[in-house]
Amino acid sequence: MAEQSLYDRLGGVFAIAAVVDHFSDAVVKNPIVGQGSRNPALDEWSTKELDRLPGLKFMRTLWVCNVAGGPFEFSATKPGSTPLGLEEAHRDLQITPDEFDEVAAELGRSLDHFGVPEREKGEVLAAFAAHKGEVTEGSMASA
Ligand code: HEM
Repeated sequence: MAEQSLYDRLGGVFAIAAVVDHFSDAVVKNPIVGQGSRNPALDEWSTKELDRLPGLKFMRTLWVCNVAGGPFEFSATKPGSTPLGLEEAHRDLQITPDEFDEVAAELGRSLDHFGVPEREKGEVLAAFAAHKGEVTEGSMASA
């Protein structure tokens, strides 16, 4: 029998959206990568651009559904070099590798909050980590 996709094992779009919702709120409140961040672009986004947060949650949900093998296709507002590429979406935010790791830790805590099993948690975090180079490209250019 074919193995269930990660999308199905996570519980589909509603379960994924719940994790993304929790995670995205936690990132905004996180002092390293959200409000009060030493990165001015992240501090500013998390305080002055919050009318974009519902859209960000929607786009992140689509992205996770897509990367996990679900029946939705992510379509970037700032396309990268591949369909799930994130370099252009994040370039101006100048996210450093340490900031990326803090966001990944926040995602891990949200997955734990919803009781996502270790195997699926590991797969989501690995899918996320696979895009670290793209997400942090903007900080490399100015280094
Ligand atoms: C692999 C890891 C990540 C994924 C999957 C991801 C996902 C996304 C997606 C799908 C978008 C929308 C792209 C678009 O509109 O075309 C986005 C934008 C954004 N991401 Fe990420 N992201 C990641 C890492 C990060 C990190 C580490 C931060 C740091 C806080 C971050 C902060 C943001 C912000 C603030 C925006 C909104 C920019 C705007 O206003 O348009 N992301 N992200």
